[in-house]
Amino acid sequence: MKRTASICVFLTLVALTLRISPTSALSQTSTQVDIPHGGALYDNWIAATGQQAPAGNHPLWSRQANNPLSGPDTWRCIACHGWDYQGKDGAYRSGTNYTGFPGVLADAQTQSVADITDILSGENDPSHDFSKYIDTAGLNDLAAFIKTATINDNQYIDPFTYDVIGGDSTHGKTLYNSACATCHGDDGARINMNFEGVQAGLGTLASIDPWRFLHKTRFGTAGTPMVIGYTLGWNPQDGRDVLLYAQQTFKTGLEKPTILPVLPGDQTTAGEPAQNVFTGFLTAIGAVMATAGFTMLLGAILVIILFIVLWSMRNNKQRRE
Ligand code: HEC
Ligand code: HEC
Repeated sequence: MKRTASICVFLTLVALTLRISPTSALSQTSTQVDIPHGGALYDNWIAATGQQAPAGNHPLWSRQANNPLSGPDTWRCIACHGWDYQGKDGAYRSGTNYTGFPGVLADAQTQSVADITDILSGENDPSHDFSKYIDTAGLNDLAAFIKTATINDNQYIDPFTYDVIGGDSTHGKTLYNSACATCHGDDGARINMNFEGVQAGLGTLASIDPWRFLHKTRFGTAGTPMVIGYTLGWNPQDGRDVLLYAQQTFKTGLEKPTILPVLPGDQTTAGEPAQNVFTGFLTAIGAVMATAGFTMLLGAILVIILFIVLWSMRNNKQRRE
């Protein structure tokens, strides 16, 4: 009995130690991965490593011509692979952010950390070599982040309104006030951020780029002292609750874009799908009508109808003869 009790005490102590200091527990293992560091590198490895951005555009950037960004921004993972980790198949499937480059989320399912590290070291494509800028430990953290900590956030974001689906904003408020308000203020507006060239508070960001917001709730903002949800022990739902609270409460000061990209694989329960399909149809008709092509099409159809009428008249005539 006494032995069982002491084993229990021992196990409790072990559990507590692991909980209180996850990093010291990890450092005893051989691999020492730092997932939040991987998340920060994915956001902005230039800021996270404190180096100067390489000159010019990333060598792969010229393989696309749609996205007008240039310089340091083109070197960030998020520029090509997106805040939702889904590249051309996610939020960046249309608009100026579109590059046509793949996402990294699928890799988490199919590739090992070593495979992903190889991709990041240019093994498959020499233009995709980041080993000159990010050390081996960093590349390993990045790969481990992709493998274990990327999430398909699109499951929880309404593709039409961008609002969080199924969150708890009361819980979000409690979390926000305890971990975020000291810096961002009760109204989310204390820190003014540069968002794609616009000065914006948290309300604006929450309403127009929920994916970016969610990544930040988990991994902070590279190069700033911002808190990191992952390290606080927040789970992904905690981040979504905070996002919902920000969406519902903070002023945006900006209009939402009128045409929101519809994400693939998302349910159409949001908004009124029937109306969306209908308005989509009307828009399509309108677009066709607006072009000269429609006039030509109409002309062609008339000619074909005339031809069929003449042909059947001639047939009738032949039959009567
Ligand atoms: C300038 C654009 C660009 C940047 C920046 C970039 N990538 Fe990529 N990435 C690509 C392209 C294009 C591919 C497709 C394979 C290739 O040609 O290299 C790719 C492939 C990948 C893949 C494999 C995806 C697959 O489906 O096979 C992973 C993982 C990846 N990148 C991670 C990263 C990470 C992490 C960063 C940041 C350190 C990063 N990439 C930065 C363009 C980029
Ligand atoms: C210690 C101060 C601090 C705390 C606490 C803090 N932040 Fe931040 N946050 C910052 C700073 C600094 C920035 C960067 C401002 C800039 O880009 O100019 C930032 C940026 C952000 C951004 C946008 C970054 C971008 O460029 O896209 C989001 C979203 C954000 N914070 C959310 C949160 C949330 C949610 C919490 C609570 C979990 C939080 N912050 C807690 C300091 C803080």
